[in-house]
Amino acid sequence: MSDVTTAEYNEDGKYLRKVRSFVLREGRLTKGQQAAFDQHWHQLGLDYSAEAIDFEAIFGNSNPVVLEIGFGMGKSLVEMAKAAPEKNFIGIEVHKPGVGACIMEAAELGLTNLRLYHHDAIEVLDNAIKQGSLSCVQLFFPDPWHKKRHHKRRIVQAEFAERIRKILAVGGVLHMATDWENYAEHMTEVMAVAPGYENLAKGSDYVERPQHRPLTKFEQRGHNLGHLVWDLMYQKVD
Ligand SMILES: C[S@@+](CC[C@H](N)C(=O)[O-])C[C@H]1O[C@@H](n2cnc3c(N)ncnc32)[C@H](O)[C@@H]1O
Repeated sequence: MSDVTTAEYNEDGKYLRKVRSFVLREGRLTKGQQAAFDQHWHQLGLDYSAEAIDFEAIFGNSNPVVLEIGFGMGKSLVEMAKAAPEKNFIGIEVHKPGVGACIMEAAELGLTNLRLYHHDAIEVLDNAIKQGSLSCVQLFFPDPWHKKRHHKRRIVQAEFAERIRKILAVGGVLHMATDWENYAEHMTEVMAVAPGYENLAKGSDYVERPQHRPLTKFEQRGHNLGHLVWDLMYQKVD
C-alpha cells in the first residue's frame, strides 16, 4: 500500500510544501477495517504509482469507468457500484479508516467492478489516469473549507477543472454536489470560465439530484439540519 502523498522536492533537494485539500487526521482503524485491508487490499486496492493504469487489465472488460474523489466511508460509492454492474468504479480517498470501511462493504457484497486508491486524488489524477479515459468524475460533498483564508484549499479551482477535463472522455461528465451554498457558488464561478465544458443544467446553474446518486451520510446529516443540497453537472464538449 502506498503513502497517501508523495513528497516533492525542488532542484536543491528542498521540500516543497503544497496547498492540499485535506488535513490528515488518522483515526485508528477498527478491527474490521484492518482485517478488510489485510484480506482484500490485493483484490480491491490499487497501489499508487506515477504510471497510467490499464482499466481493461484491472477490470477484465472495457466498460465505462466512473471515478470518485474523496468517497469518505464509501457507502454511496459501494451502492452505486452495486447498482451499475455495467460500469466500473474507481474511488480515491486519503482517510484510511474510510478506505477500510469501503473495502469491508465492497468485499461483503463481492463487488468486482470497484477498485480503491488510498492516496491524494490530485496525484492519482495527474499521473495514474490516462487522458480522455473516464465517463464520469464524481465529487460529492468535498470539504467546504468555510473560512475565507482557507478557500485556497478547496479542491475545486480552475486547475482542477482543467485536470478533470484532460482525463474525461469527450461527452464525459463532472458531477459535483455540495450542501454549502458558498461552495456551490464558487463551483459555478470556476466552471463558468473553465474551457471545454457545457453546463447540463437548463435554466439555472444546478441540476436535480439524479436518481443514480444515493444520499450520502453527509447529505443525510445536512438534510436533518435543514440544509439544501446543490448538484452540478458539466459535460466535456472539447
Ligand atoms: C466532507 S468528506 C465527504 C465524504 C463523502 N463524499 C460523503 O459525501 O460522505 C470529504 C472527503 O474528501 C477526502 N479528501 C479531501 N481531499 C482529498 C484528496 N485530495 N484526495 C483524496 N481524498 C480527499 C477527505 O478525506 C474526506 O473524506
